[in-house]
This record gives sequence, C-alpha cells and structure tokens, in this order.
Amino acid sequence: MLSLLLSRTAGAATLLPSLHSNKMNESPRARKAAAIVSRAGEVRRQVLSADGRTKLNPRPDKEFYDYPRLVKHVDDGFIESLTETYRERVEGEGAEVLDLMSSWVSHLPAEIRYRRVVGHGLNAGELARNPRLDRFFVQDLNVDHRLPLGSATFDAVLCAVSVQYLQQPEQVFAEVFRVLKPGGVFIVSFSNRMFYDKAISAWRDTSDYGRIQLVVQYFQCVSGFTEPEVLRGMPRKQDDLSPLTWIKRLIGKLNSDPFYAVISYKNVRPIKD
Ligand SMILES: C[S@@+](CC[C@H](N)C(=O)[O-])C[C@H]1O[C@@H](n2cnc3c(N)ncnc32)[C@H](O)[C@@H]1O
Repeated sequence: MLSLLLSRTAGAATLLPSLHSNKMNESPRARKAAAIVSRAGEVRRQVLSADGRTKLNPRPDKEFYDYPRLVKHVDDGFIESLTETYRERVEGEGAEVLDLMSSWVSHLPAEIRYRRVVGHGLNAGELARNPRLDRFFVQDLNVDHRLPLGSATFDAVLCAVSVQYLQQPEQVFAEVFRVLKPGGVFIVSFSNRMFYDKAISAWRDTSDYGRIQLVVQYFQCVSGFTEPEVLRGMPRKQDDLSPLTWIKRLIGKLNSDPFYAVISYKNVRPIKD
C-alpha cells in the first residue's frame, strides 16, 4: 500500500486546486501556493548554454540509429544495479511505465509484471524486439520534445544510459513531469560510457561528478520535482545479505561500469506503509 507524504517541494501545492478561488480573501500563504500551482511543470531556467548542447556529429540522430544495435550498452554489474533500483522504486503489478530512449532491452525485473510498459526510442527494429513493451513509438526528442502521451498517465518514467544525447533536456524533463501521475517517479541512470560523437558537449567535457550535477540540475530546473536523490554504486538487496553475496557484489562493484542514478518524484514522494 502506498500513502502520500506531503513534499516540501513547491509542486506539492498542485494538490490544492481550490487555492485558485476567492482571491480577495486569500492569505499571503495561499497566494504564494496559488502562484506555485501555476508554475508546476514549467521550466524555470535553462541549464545548458547553446555551446553545451552541441554534438561532434551534427547529423540527425535518426540517421545514427538507422540500423538496429542489438548490443548491451553497459555491463552486467551495471544492469544488476539498475534492475535492483527498478525493483525498489517502481511499484509492480498496477504500475504504468514509460521507458524513454529505450532499445531491445528494458532492464526491468523479469519477475514483476506491470500493468503497461510503453517504449520510446529511435529504432523501431530494436523496440519491436523488446519483450517488456506493450507498445512503442519512435520520435527524435532533439527534433520534437513533446511526448504524444496524455498528462498524468504514468507511475514511472525510465531513461537508461541515454540522457547524454538530449540537446533540450530541460524541455524533455518538463514533458516527463507532465506525463507522470502525482507521486510518479523519474529514474535517470547513466555510466561513463557513451557514443562520444553523439553526446552533448556539456556531457563530454565533464567528469562523472559533473554529469551527476547536470542531471540533478535538469530535475531542479522544472518546478515541482522533489529534491533529486543520487545513487552511486550498487543498491543493496534487502533480502539477501549472506557473506558470499556480499563478496560477490563487492567484486562485481569493483569491476563493473560505474552506476549512477538520479531519482525524483512528481510533487510528492510516496512512502511505503
Ligand atoms: C545507449 S542506447 C540505450 C538504450 C537503452 N535505454 C538501454 O538501456 O539499452 C541510447 C538510446 O537513446 C535513444 N536516443 C538517442 N538519441 C535520441 C534522440 N535524439 N531522440 C530520441 N531517442 C534518442 C536511442 O533510442 C538509443 O537506443
């Protein structure tokens, strides 16, 4: 069971639409909350400079993804961490999930069935092979950032090892905010691998730490996301803490692609009873 915890963030006020009415008698606090209501989901500021958005390969991204790449973009250690993060953060059975910038794999835990998983990417051949997707659409987000999806329809949006290719991340994050239900989660994961020529310069020209800060700012620039939470390395599996597992996980951690995820919720963070 989930219950909603009132968030300290501005967007929580979207749960109070009645504050719009009867302006004459409004207290300063109510007026402030009403102003916040109107700003939720808006891009407050641009994070990237024009130069930071450029790519070494300026050809349309669709050309680059023209043929299917049926490869894994990160190693098994990274994928294990990501799957565990999804297991912990995405509510099962009833959840409606959007896998943004997806391919032929989604990294969702195999044992959990979701109500609906919608995929998005640039190559229809890859997406058609993805066994987790109930349906998918192809769209270049650097050409059109507007998602052809209804507002407040998803419990979770995922973006795995792809955020570095977005040239208008502020607008895309605002769109994700729009399609999330209140309390819905956006999980953005990444490592230090990339198609170098296709990553934006702000991403290429910084450290792993700088990349974490970039993604944190992408969230913070959209009104109404809760304070972003940063995960580094492997999340611990709650149900298996045997010494052997611990040693295996330590070795895996030392060898694997570095795992980073930045996580935030729309308006409120749900808490488990
Ligand atoms: C490294 S792959 C990651 C795929 C998948 N999320 C995974 O974990 O294996 C990068 C993905 O980003 C998507 N992508 C890259 N540029 C894009 C763009 N301009 N618009 C939409 N999607 C894009 C492509 O679909 C591509 O599959």
